[in-house]
Amino acid sequence: MAIHPPEQRIWWQEPVARGEIVWITIAFLWGVLMFCVMIWWHFTGQQNLSNEAYRVDPATYAERAEAAAEEHTVREEGDTGIPVVRPPPGGDVYMYARLWEWWPVLELEQGQQYRLHLSSLDWQHGFSLQPVNMNLQVHPGYEMVLTLTPTEAGTYGVVCNEYCGVGHHTMVGRIYVVAPGQGD
Ligand code: CUA
Repeated sequence: MAIHPPEQRIWWQEPVARGEIVWITIAFLWGVLMFCVMIWWHFTGQQNLSNEAYRVDPATYAERAEAAAEEHTVREEGDTGIPVVRPPPGGDVYMYARLWEWWPVLELEQGQQYRLHLSSLDWQHGFSLQPVNMNLQVHPGYEMVLTLTPTEAGTYGVVCNEYCGVGHHTMVGRIYVVAPGQGD
């Protein structure tokens, strides 16, 4: 416990112990190796999403998402009447995060490729797709674009995994994946 000053006033000129040097070197080299391997993980292991990111004004993003929803809403759901949006296969899909919701609900067709756009209208949220466990940070001012092809039909939950205030735990969304020709 360092409650007294060091005996040698110029303590930093003392040699570092050999064991400590060895461990610092190993940790440093491991860090460098892991840094380089991050690129490799985009191609193998299915761990990193190869997404794109663009700067966007939150208001502009909201307008785009709402215009897309207006065009492709197939029904409304729940007490809040949240729209369920079914975009054309191969097209752009918009979802936004805000206190405290993921908007809108999406309905995608299995086996079709989509460009999923994600952004936040207020502050940082975390997009966590369950149960497949795909995770992305969602920031205001940045539009993340994922090219994805849903492979299995089902109901997927979106939970917020960045603490964002008192309503954080209620911030859940939904994505339906339906078999070709099914759904609305
Ligand atoms: Cu949004 Cu936590």
